[in-house]
Amino acid sequence: MYLDTNVRPENMERITTKALADAFIEQAVKEIREQVKDKKVLLALSGGVDSSVVAALLIKAVGKQLTCVHVNHGLMRKGESEQVIEVFKEGLDANLVYVDATDRFLDLLAGVSEPEKKRKIIGGEFIKVFDEESAKLEGISFLAQGTIYPDILESDGVKAHHNVGGLPEDMEMELCEPVKLLFKDEVRLVGSALGLPDNMVYRQPFPGPGLGVRCLGAITRDRLHALREADAILREEFDNCGLAKTVWQYFIAVPDTKSVGVKDGKRYEGWPAIIRAVNTTDAMTATIEEIPYDVLHKITDRITHEVEGINRVLLDLTPKPIGTIEWE
Ligand code: XMP
Repeated sequence: MYLDTNVRPENMERITTKALADAFIEQAVKEIREQVKDKKVLLALSGGVDSSVVAALLIKAVGKQLTCVHVNHGLMRKGESEQVIEVFKEGLDANLVYVDATDRFLDLLAGVSEPEKKRKIIGGEFIKVFDEESAKLEGISFLAQGTIYPDILESDGVKAHHNVGGLPEDMEMELCEPVKLLFKDEVRLVGSALGLPDNMVYRQPFPGPGLGVRCLGAITRDRLHALREADAILREEFDNCGLAKTVWQYFIAVPDTKSVGVKDGKRYEGWPAIIRAVNTTDAMTATIEEIPYDVLHKITDRITHEVEGINRVLLDLTPKPIGTIEWE
């Protein structure tokens, strides 16, 4: 019922409780076992909500017959790849192949400032790395994907259009998409019922090309590092003051420009860290979160003192339209 159709049955109840999530899991596990039998499954595990929930479901259904490949493209937020390893390899004893491809991506991106070109490089290289890793594995029959119902409604059902990764073209594998009839809120409930941590299940949206779209212009390792550290401070302070629970999306962007400042009595040239915190329901339009000034002061103080290379903190007050959510 969940695996063999792309149309959500009209009588399918919306999953709104743990009990309904448990019932979904029981049925999905049964269907996955029927589909996969004793064959092997491959999954690109980004650490995002959808692929994480699919991984947890498949581990429950077929255990070590699933191989997860996590490609760290070097553009993850602070701690994200580490959490994927901790939750899946250490927590769920998953068959997890971790590939640190940071150097490959950053070397290719060196000197490239045009946003679309950066996206193409990241997407293309991701498929290449994933392809190389899966070629090393033997006897894989299924490719699992975190397709969700809006992906089917909004496109032709292939998530690769919007996200990094996707289906390598010459792979002859059958698809296994156990959450393809679910809406995002349902996927989150299923993830929680499967025991995934809240910060994974209620993760804010994060673009496939990751921090690559927030490290503006040509990415350099030092500026990317500064961005990652500043973003981690913003997230920590939003956690501390409770905004993390209510604000739809918040992040730091760091442009490729420096200004003069003073640090320890000396001239200090640094980049600005731009805070963006928006609320929206569909990401088509967005309004600005009014962050209390004491929180802004704390964040500014921490970022300018703790992050090497940043000497100013700015706040983006532009709604969408006219600004897009990301700076690219
Ligand atoms: P913009 O910048 O167009 O962003 O206002 C709208 C929303 O889309 C997110 N975004 C992405 N999400 N893969 C994704 O899954 C991507 O490549 C991507 N690029 C942007 C963005 O973070 C915002 O929430």
